[in-house]
Amino acid sequence: MELWMGNDSQAIAEQAADRIEEFIRRKPDAVLGLATGSTPLATYRELIRRYRLGRIDFSQVRTFNLDEYYGLSPDHPQSYHNYMYEHLFRHINIEKQNIHIPSGTAPDVEAYCREYEETIAACGGIDLQLLGIGVNGHIGFNEPAEELEPGTHFVKLSDETIAANSRFFASLEEVPRYAITMGMSTIMSARKILLLAEGEGKAQIIRQMFDSGITTGIPASFLRLHHDVTVLVDRQAGRYLMNGREGAGAR
Ligand code: PGA
Repeated sequence: MELWMGNDSQAIAEQAADRIEEFIRRKPDAVLGLATGSTPLATYRELIRRYRLGRIDFSQVRTFNLDEYYGLSPDHPQSYHNYMYEHLFRHINIEKQNIHIPSGTAPDVEAYCREYEETIAACGGIDLQLLGIGVNGHIGFNEPAEELEPGTHFVKLSDETIAANSRFFASLEEVPRYAITMGMSTIMSARKILLLAEGEGKAQIIRQMFDSGITTGIPASFLRLHHDVTVLVDRQAGRYLMNGREGAGAR
């Protein structure tokens, strides 16, 4: 895994946007895997800014989101559908038919998850996957567990995730308990992965991701088996990595 450390959220956003911009320039119909949460917001703002400057053309880009809460309709203010349109899609020239976000309301969940995988495959697989990381080491909503699931699946959210995400809802009770998420293999099959982390709260899990064994207790640790992962952190999230790692991949 390559480590890149910047000063703050904006530095991470510019670095991530540089890589995405360059990727789309080389492959205008790139298949992007996208994430939600607080961390990618600055990156999405930076992508919108560059689109407005005429630097990025999203007209042929295809996207697949990592996950969606189960039980929330697309127009629910906290749905990831709503998040993606508010924070990215409605500001850029992406075609609606090229946007894929797991459905939070599919009645036949198993069939739906199979279909999501098939659609990714039909698009040629994910070229560039953007990831955040949960404080418990989840990626997408692949929560720490004895066993991890390979494909897109229905998942019960961990108490830690429900607590962490309750800041977006009026109360803890309103946070959905279930979600649909890409699986570990869906994520690991992406050709290139950018994982973003910022703030003190992520410092411990970032250290564990780099230094623990590869364990289902820290789903993000599996990224060490991938051949093209770049971890972009700010100084706070990377604080435990600074000693001894600078010069070894850190720029
Ligand atoms: P955050 O979420 O960006 O809001 O911290 C990250 C995640 O849970 O993957």
